[in-house]
Amino acid sequence: MPEEYMLMMPRKVFGGGSALEQVLVLLKDKYKKAAIFTDKGIRNSGITDYPLELLGRCNLEIIIFDELPTEPSCDEAQKVVDDFRKSGADLIVAIGGGSVMDVAKLASIACTDVYGVRDLLKKPLIGRKFVEVLLIPTTAGTGSEATPNSIVTVPEKNLKVGIVNTEMLADMVILDGRMLKKIPQQIAAATGIDALAHAIECYTSNKANPISNMFALEALKLIFENILPACEDPGAVKEKNDMLLAAFYAGAAITASGTTAVHALSYPLGGRYHIPHGVANAIMLLPVLKFNLPACLKEFAEVYDAVSKGNHNLKQEEKAEWVLNKIDEIIHVLKIPSSLKNFGISKTDLEDLVHDGMEVKRLLNNNKSTVTAEDARKLYLEVL
Ligand SMILES: NC(=O)c1ccc[n+]([C@@H]2O[C@H](COP(=O)([O-])OP(=O)(O)OC[C@H]3O[C@@H](n4cnc5c(N)ncnc54)[C@H](O)[C@@H]3O)[C@@H](O)[C@H]2O)c1
Ligand SMILES: [Zn+2]
Repeated sequence: MPEEYMLMMPRKVFGGGSALEQVLVLLKDKYKKAAIFTDKGIRNSGITDYPLELLGRCNLEIIIFDELPTEPSCDEAQKVVDDFRKSGADLIVAIGGGSVMDVAKLASIACTDVYGVRDLLKKPLIGRKFVEVLLIPTTAGTGSEATPNSIVTVPEKNLKVGIVNTEMLADMVILDGRMLKKIPQQIAAATGIDALAHAIECYTSNKANPISNMFALEALKLIFENILPACEDPGAVKEKNDMLLAAFYAGAAITASGTTAVHALSYPLGGRYHIPHGVANAIMLLPVLKFNLPACLKEFAEVYDAVSKGNHNLKQEEKAEWVLNKIDEIIHVLKIPSSLKNFGISKTDLEDLVHDGMEVKRLLNNNKSTVTAEDARKLYLEVL
C-alpha cells in the first residue's frame, strides 16, 4: 500500500431524506443567474420539476440548457461551454447523470477565451474555476459529483479520455433519492454496476490507500445490500438513497485511488462502439476480476469480510470465489448484457479493441496484475 495518501472532497455535501430543500439554503439571494444543465431524457421524465420549483424560489434568474449530449465528445462539450458563456450566469446547477455533471464541471473551468476543452485534454492543469457548481446526480452512479474528473470521447482516437483537475471538484452536492424515482430499470442497473466497479477496482488498485479503502469498502457494503431493490422497485427510496451514498463513496475512492483494467478495457467500448459506460464496465467486470484473482486474493477476501454476513472462517480462496459469484449473480439478475455480440461487435474488431484498450495506460498502470496486449486479447475474446 502506498505510504502517501490524500483526501479531496467537494466543498459542501447534503444527502438523505429532504436534501433537495437545501437548494433554498444554499442559493437563495446568493447568486444572480443560474444555468441549469440537464438532458432531454431527464427533463421529459419530470424529475427536474421539483428542483426547478425550488430554484424559482431562490431569487435568481434562471436559464435552462436541457439538450446536453449523452456521453459527450470533447467537441460536443465545447459547444455547450460556448452556449453557456453567452448566458452570463454565475452558477451552474447540473441535474443529471455523469454525462451532464461532467459537462457542467468542464464548463466551470472552460468558460474562457484563453483555452478550450481540447487544450484541457492536452494540459488539464491549465484550467481554473470561473463559476461555482451545484451537482444533483440522477443516477447512482458515476460518482462524478465526488471526483475532479470529466470524461469525454475523443472521436479521432475512438477513446474516452479523463480530464482530471481538482478545480473541477464541486462546490455543492445534493444527494436525494427522490431524483431516482423515475429512473428506468436498465439505466439504474448499468449505473449501479459502474459504482460497484469503481469501488472494487479502487480497493484492488496499486494506488489503494487507507482513505480510498475506507470509502471503497463502505460503498461495497451499501451496494451489495441495496442494488437489487434500488433497481427493481421504483418505490424503494431508502435503497435509492443508499445507492446514491454508495456511488458518492465510490467516487471519493476514485479521487483518492484510481480505477484499473476494467475501466481501461471498457473505454474503447464506449469510445468506438458507444456502448453506455455502465454496460461496458458490466461486460468487462468479471473477466478482469477473475484475471486479477491471483494477485488480489487478500483484497477480495477482505471484501467478503466486509459485505458478507456468512461464515468468516473460510479460506481466502473461498471468500474470493463468493465475491465473484455474487457479482455474477447481481449482473444476471439485473439482466445487463454480458456479451459484445449484443452490440454487433465481432472477432474482426478484436485487434482494434486491443490497440485502443492498451492505450489507456493511466488506468492499466493501476492494475495489480500487469496486462499485456495478449492478456487484453484474451479478455476481450471472453466477451465476444
Ligand atoms: N467524472 C467521473 O468521475 C465519471 C466517472 C464515471 C463515469 N463518468 C462518465 O459519466 C457518463 C455516464 O453517466 P451515467 O452513467 O450517469 O449516465 P448518463 O448521464 O449518460 O445518462 C444515461 C441516460 O439516462 C437518462 N437518465 C439519467 N438519470 C435519469 C433519471 N433519474 N430518470 C430518467 N432518466 C435518467 C439520461 O437522460 C440518459 O439518457 C459517461 O460519459 C462516463 O464516462 C464520469
Ligand atoms: Zn465508471
